[in-house]
Amino acid sequence: MKKITIAIDGFSSSGKSSMAKVLAKAIGYAYVDSGAMYRAVTLFCIENNMISGDVVDVVRLTDALPDIKINFTVNPDSGASEVYLNGRNVEREIRGMEVSGKVSLVAAIPAVRRALVKQQQAMGEDKGIVMDGRDICTVVFPDAEMKVFVTATPETRAQRRLEELRGKGDDKVTYEEVYANVCTRDHIDQTREDSPLRQAEDAMVLDNSHMTREEQNAWLLEQYRRIAAE
Ligand code: DC
Repeated sequence: MKKITIAIDGFSSSGKSSMAKVLAKAIGYAYVDSGAMYRAVTLFCIENNMISGDVVDVVRLTDALPDIKINFTVNPDSGASEVYLNGRNVEREIRGMEVSGKVSLVAAIPAVRRALVKQQQAMGEDKGIVMDGRDICTVVFPDAEMKVFVTATPETRAQRRLEELRGKGDDKVTYEEVYANVCTRDHIDQTREDSPLRQAEDAMVLDNSHMTREEQNAWLLEQYRRIAAE
């Protein structure tokens, strides 16, 4: 099997990160959740009062970008890769509704995208990586040997996200709130000027609205085996 680059894009809560993680583990590849990097920058903005309503202080954020260090470290207990912001584990905080509500605004800023794309490309220099996000097939790794675009209906995705949040102990959030967040993020992600979410022409499309996790994982592994053996 040759060592390849695997790029997975798709809508929020489409299940792409779960699939990507399982695949990476099964084939011994590194896994990078690029959304976690945008979320970590968003947390930095919130903590440093750089967001007021829907407006981000782009000038201050651009100045601060060189001081924002994002790393991934594997948690020895769970085996999961967790994100660190300037040396602090922020894995939990970046998944909450506060960051989710603002991350699309921050991810639309070209200076932020330039900085993170550069880091992501450096991480994938030696191949043997699975990365998921919105622009991985189109911008970060346009030459990836394997490209997948994952989609599902907004209702299915909101339900999945609700279950995830409930599983993490958030009893207050409602389906309506989560559904609204999913739709708003879809809209911003698809209509932003810089690197909007779109399906790469040479990507395989996976609509998993009616698939079990096992079926998706099996499909992804099968595609990898076919492409890496070519
Ligand atoms: O995958 P996620 O929901 O954790 O992503 C969080 C946000 O970051 C989402 O609103 C889109 C943005 N994002 C992006 O613009 N480009 C990426 N490569 C990954 C995520």
